Amino acid sequence: MTVLGIESSCDETSVAVLKDDVVLANLISSQDFHINFGGVVPELSSRAHIQIITSLVKDALAKAGCTLDDIDTIGATAGPGLIGALLVGYTFARGLAFAKKKIFVPVNHIEGHIFSGFLMDDKPEFPLLVLAVSGGHTLLLLAKSFTEIIKLGSTIDDAAGEAFDKVAKMIGLGYPGGPKIQAFAEKGDKMKIPFPIADLKGKYDFSFSGLKTSVLRYVQKEYPNGVPIPEEDLNDIAASFQNAVVRALLKKCELALKENEISSMSLVGGVAANQELRNAFLKLGEKYKKKVVIPKLEYCGDNAAMIAFRAHSLITAGESFSLETDAFPNFSSKYFINPSSANSL
Ligand code: KG4
Ligand code: ZN
Repeated sequence: MTVLGIESSCDETSVAVLKDDVVLANLISSQDFHINFGGVVPELSSRAHIQIITSLVKDALAKAGCTLDDIDTIGATAGPGLIGALLVGYTFARGLAFAKKKIFVPVNHIEGHIFSGFLMDDKPEFPLLVLAVSGGHTLLLLAKSFTEIIKLGSTIDDAAGEAFDKVAKMIGLGYPGGPKIQAFAEKGDKMKIPFPIADLKGKYDFSFSGLKTSVLRYVQKEYPNGVPIPEEDLNDIAASFQNAVVRALLKKCELALKENEISSMSLVGGVAANQELRNAFLKLGEKYKKKVVIPKLEYCGDNAAMIAFRAHSLITAGESFSLETDAFPNFSSKYFINPSSANSL
């Protein structure tokens, strides 16, 4: 099966061609100009997607050595995401599928991230523990198959990536926060400031708003009246904050490993690009003797290869879809199961 994947949920336009589970092309065009605004401007994002989508599809097909006649299936992100941005890639894909009579798959963006480890040569195995950390989501999941995903926990406030972005802004490092915090943290002392991690009722849930507030309080106390923070101190704040996020995420993963039957573990999403988190996740896998699959950086941030793979895995699982499905900002997953109903499966 050859799949054309299209992703345009936020500030990356991406087009991929996948033959079975081999990526023939995965082109990603990032909208760097949002840096000037300190965050993604939805209307500008939609316009930039429109400008590039046609040429990116042509270039991806050329890179893969294919024509549209070689494509069996077209998968496109239907949500969650910014509606104007989503509509560009989704409508393009749906129109193409209708005109060329291809199988069409509306793909949930988060499901794309969840199974992105399968794009690697050494594949994850079910039951699979997934920590999905992006700008909009923080989820701890137990995937029993491609169509049964038990949601163990999620954030009750900010997503992990959102916390990185907000703290970076707060201490003047700019946008996007994750890579900036990581770069400063590399030169800092992660044990310098003991930022707290939340203790929550939901045993697999996360919370990052208290951590964000304690960074704010620390900065207000140490540097009153807007005094600029010296670079050395910025390094220590970034390292200590990053360490607190990693500890909070890993604590819940460890609990899940103790309490569930798990064959392998995967760390996915934009925040999975974080080197400290990757190292800690690998170490946890070693401790519990589990296979660990972390996608390479190209497949951590938003990309169409993961969307094409998700379309492929759903069609292979016997699922079918209608061209009538619309893109939706809060497009939910029909494959998520709450733990309480999981035993009855
Ligand atoms: O998955 P993604 O590309 O987009 C969403 O679907 O949200 O994730 C983007 C998030 C941003 O919050 C960004 O700051 C974070 O991933 N991120 C990182 C790193 N690189 C990107 N966070 C921590 N460390 C990084 N190296
Ligand atoms: Zn994403």
